[in-house]
Amino acid sequence: MEKNKKVVTLAYGCQMSERDAETLTDITRQKGYTSSDELENADLVIINTCCVRESAENKIMGKIGELKKLKERNPNLKIAISGCMVQQPGALERLQKRAPHVDIWAGTHNLHNFSALLQQVDQGGKAAEVWQEPNITEESTPLAEKGKLKANVNIMYGCDNFCSYCIVPHVRGRERSRKPEEIIQEIEDLVKRGCREVTLLGQNVNSYGKEFSPAYDFADLLQKVDQIPLLLRVRFITSHPKDLSDKLINTIAEGQKLCEHFHLPIQSGSNFILQRMNRKYTREYYLSRVRKIRELLPHASLTTDIIVGFPGESDEDFEQTLAIMDTVHYGQAFTFMYSKRSGTPAAEMNSQIPLDVKKRRLQRLMSVQNQNSLKWRQSMIGKIYEVLVEGLSRTNSERLTGRTRGNELVVFSGDSEIIGSLVNVRIHEAGSWTLVGDIENL
Ligand code: 5AD
Ligand code: SF4
Repeated sequence: MEKNKKVVTLAYGCQMSERDAETLTDITRQKGYTSSDELENADLVIINTCCVRESAENKIMGKIGELKKLKERNPNLKIAISGCMVQQPGALERLQKRAPHVDIWAGTHNLHNFSALLQQVDQGGKAAEVWQEPNITEESTPLAEKGKLKANVNIMYGCDNFCSYCIVPHVRGRERSRKPEEIIQEIEDLVKRGCREVTLLGQNVNSYGKEFSPAYDFADLLQKVDQIPLLLRVRFITSHPKDLSDKLINTIAEGQKLCEHFHLPIQSGSNFILQRMNRKYTREYYLSRVRKIRELLPHASLTTDIIVGFPGESDEDFEQTLAIMDTVHYGQAFTFMYSKRSGTPAAEMNSQIPLDVKKRRLQRLMSVQNQNSLKWRQSMIGKIYEVLVEGLSRTNSERLTGRTRGNELVVFSGDSEIIGSLVNVRIHEAGSWTLVGDIENL
């Protein structure tokens, strides 16, 4: 009998990349592999890549280099590199030259065909496939995850927004939405396998269904998902501020399972920079959306993404970004130094910002956000929050961890039997990243 083959799958980048990595792992499972996290004993290593910033690419190239040594020790090891980095125009040839030890290359539009690529390599030789366009029918039949409490569900693919700094539309193609029936079916299947929380994924979930006729939008989809029996929570990312409708905010306010957490990337607080970024909203419009959320959902948590050092960003522009942080009070902010991505308009713009200025701005931004995160969490002390119990604490196995509806991490004592259920927790301690509390029986 053939030995049990082991696959290690690594995902870099966003939740979409993680979801794609799960799909690839599932495909290998159907070919007899079991998943593992021990690189030393692997028969196949898959890296699903990210190219959103140069730092991600450098990290991934380092990892691919490490795998070369592993392959020298274990010549039977197969290495597959997939996803956004491979999909970049002209990247395949360059990558193949830099990493000849890789056996399979697959672009973002070729993941569903991974089984055939694997077979090609099993028969000896190498495989590489990067299509320029997606194949819609294949794409709309993803494989559901098994047995997990929380799952990511793609509701759409691609992006039409072309923010001037961003490579995503160039590697994930134009926006296309999955049919509501397929999404609901996938979630019902997940629930049957024990899933209790889903995160609906899209680069811009707020424009879900814009191509549908008759009209059917993201709010309509959320209302449907909210009714699925046994499902406890529904989350979604990412929201583009320009498309965040009143209907959507109302739907979340009225929903039972729809979590009051908006990840609403602002990117910059300066109108001049927002325009150069092609974000299609002003700081005033953004703030009006935040006011609407706070009016209908006073306890909603808001998180964001911010880029510092975009070409042309002056000290004053940056001050406007800092000022917005103190107006909105984000629970969390993902902060990045602008990274030049070839093929995007911003890479060609003049007034690129020197690295030391970017670093200084990032430091200041992070320290403001750390204080805000702490203040936000301290404001939760003494109050009771609904928490989905997710598992044992990684740092202290006698404690449980879970998340609030706002996605804040909470640590508390309790019996492991309650994992997977909702409990009420009163918060009594807060740090920048975690909350500590006690279960309160109401
Ligand atoms: N440089 C820095 N950050 C970027 N992002 C996207 N492209 C770039 C880039 N070229 C950030 C944005 C986006 C997040 C996922 O990554 O903030 O919201
Ligand atoms: Fe990139 Fe903008 Fe699309 Fe987000 S909305 S994926 S930042 S182009």
